[in-house]
Amino acid sequence: MTTAAAPPGRKALTIDRLCAGYGDTQVLWDVSLTVAPGEVVALIGSNGAGKSTLLGAVSGLVETISGSARYGDVELTALQPDRVVRAGVVQVPQGRRLFSSLSVEDNLRMGAYLRRDREVEADLEKILTMLPRLRERYDYLAGRLSGGEQQQVAIGRALMARPQVLLIDEMSLGLAPVLVDALIDILAQIHATGVSILIVEQDVQTALEVSSRAYVLETGRIILSGPSAELLDDPQVKKAYLGV
Ligand SMILES: Nc1ncnc2c1ncn2[C@@H]1O[C@H](COP(=O)(O)OP(=O)(O)O)[C@@H](O)[C@H]1O
Ligand SMILES: [Mg+2]
Repeated sequence: MTTAAAPPGRKALTIDRLCAGYGDTQVLWDVSLTVAPGEVVALIGSNGAGKSTLLGAVSGLVETISGSARYGDVELTALQPDRVVRAGVVQVPQGRRLFSSLSVEDNLRMGAYLRRDREVEADLEKILTMLPRLRERYDYLAGRLSGGEQQQVAIGRALMARPQVLLIDEMSLGLAPVLVDALIDILAQIHATGVSILIVEQDVQTALEVSSRAYVLETGRIILSGPSAELLDDPQVKKAYLGV
């Protein structure tokens, strides 16, 4: 979404030799990754590779052992989750995590709960214009929506926080291809407003098609990275992730 102050997506997200995990269990080992201003980057890898853990560490939800994740010069791993959101880095979580007994409207408004500015209503209107399906479903309980609609609510809720970097975890999981295509169109519109995007996917084909660069995470380590078009052609990626 547009902002009145600084244009969005002007700073880089820089993850540097990040180690993180749960209690005594280390999951991420020296993960380094960057998302340049305005870039769409994909993080791909199998179930259990540590993708959600990485987004959790960036979002202040998973404990960092060492290394850093900076947005511009703000060290995110030192911040509480609400501060990370205020810094402009907002996650669309795996499984959507909506308030199923609240309406679409209330779920969207929940995304703006940290904001004190006067543009919440204007942003809500912009988001409903971008996601017309949600305008039709505005008063429905989120739990009654289809999977594709729920994913749109989760994206809309994140946009209500005015992200400069959007972290999207398994957007396509469980959705039919036609619904995934609709979501990809939405991502393109969000990207066009200047928001940087880190897309995390088990659906490697989709992730590589929408991103300009990508990283492959395997058992907590980045094993490969490069331009997405090259990874789509990479024999290792084809064999391990594309089934060809
Ligand atoms: N809350 C948690 N407590 C302990 N271990 C976890 C927790 N969440 C995930 N893990 C473990 O961390 C590893 C990476 O999981 P995850 O980041 O969810 O992978 P991905 O998102 O790539 O599927 C897995 O071995 C998983 O079992
Ligand atoms: Mg995950």
